[in-house]
Amino acid sequence: MTPPTATPLARAADLALEASIVGSYTNIGFRARSELAHWPPPVDTDLRGHTFLVTGASRGIGHETAAMLLAAGAAVRSVSQSAERADEATRRLQARHPDGDVAFAVANLTVADDLARVAAELQRELTHLDGIAHCAGAFYSDLTRTADGIEAGVALGVVAPHRLNRLLADHLATAPEPRVAIVASSGAYMHRLSIDALDPVDDSRYRPLAAYALTKRAQIVLTHAWALRRRAIAFDAMAPGWSDTELLRQGLPRFRQLLRPALRSAFQGADTLAWLLARPEPRRTTDRFWHDRRPRLEHRFPWTLGGDGPDELWAWCEQHTPAG
Ligand SMILES: NC(=O)c1ccc[n+]([C@@H]2O[C@H](COP(=O)([O-])OP(=O)(O)OC[C@H]3O[C@@H](n4cnc5c(N)ncnc54)[C@H](OP(=O)(O)O)[C@@H]3O)[C@@H](O)[C@H]2O)c1
Repeated sequence: MTPPTATPLARAADLALEASIVGSYTNIGFRARSELAHWPPPVDTDLRGHTFLVTGASRGIGHETAAMLLAAGAAVRSVSQSAERADEATRRLQARHPDGDVAFAVANLTVADDLARVAAELQRELTHLDGIAHCAGAFYSDLTRTADGIEAGVALGVVAPHRLNRLLADHLATAPEPRVAIVASSGAYMHRLSIDALDPVDDSRYRPLAAYALTKRAQIVLTHAWALRRRAIAFDAMAPGWSDTELLRQGLPRFRQLLRPALRSAFQGADTLAWLLARPEPRRTTDRFWHDRRPRLEHRFPWTLGGDGPDELWAWCEQHTPAG
């Protein structure tokens, strides 16, 4: 695969942006990188005959990812917790791509039975699945637990992708070049993986930002855990950049206010996710943490090194996954 920022100027700009952090994750980074490296559209292959599961496609980054895949002829399946939002998202996607094959199931991915039903419907409907974009995410300001007793952010960001991968791995394995990409975040740079911290003890010790960062770190490590075990499938994690979506509006209003003019659009946030799902020969460069179409460092600060690893996280996820 040709590196997207191949010229020396584009590469130097990319590295300078990367070092600046703020430049990298705002729309400044997206504009500079895409213009200097003359990025082609994120999906520039014919995806007719391909089917992708894109969680979180009712709005925001997942919605734009679904639109990019539909534009290339792929079929898209997704979920929303609300029938109304599912219908509205389907209408909006079909208005943009009238021939697009898109369907939503109504499901809460933190509810084990809902998730199992979604997977069973996909298994029945499809002979193969070409890829999954694990994009659903939320910011929980207060400690929230699922019926299984799992912290909700971890349940949605880590346990749900693990369970979906598990239930759909055989369908993925029958696709010619299957890919799975999970939407992590630069927030991962703030936290090491601690398995103990995945189970917060009580409300008084719950720190929403730290919990979000831990989930995002765990998503990167989960990618490694899966890549180690299912080598026929390309597993990658990515950071979309700071994008003006509902998650930011609801979860981090002050951060949004401060950076508003420089925030990315959901379309810009979706670029690398769609690119990862559509790129040719995905297994040539896989099991990485991507941002703006390049693999990035997984650690920027020494305190995030030396945490628990893929095997410990795998064991924890298996403990929290119903048998079957
Ligand atoms: N925006 C940013 O700056 C930013 C930066 C870094 C990473 N991210 C990550 O990007 C991903 C997408 O976020 P976004 O910014 O596009 O946020 P968003 O606009 O709020 O979209 C979140 C999506 O997740 C779905 N979702 C939430 N809880 C769910 C549940 N329990 N079951 C099923 N679906 C659920 C929502 O669907 P329903 O509500 O319809 O169910 C919605 O489609 C997240 O993983 C987020 O952490 C975002």
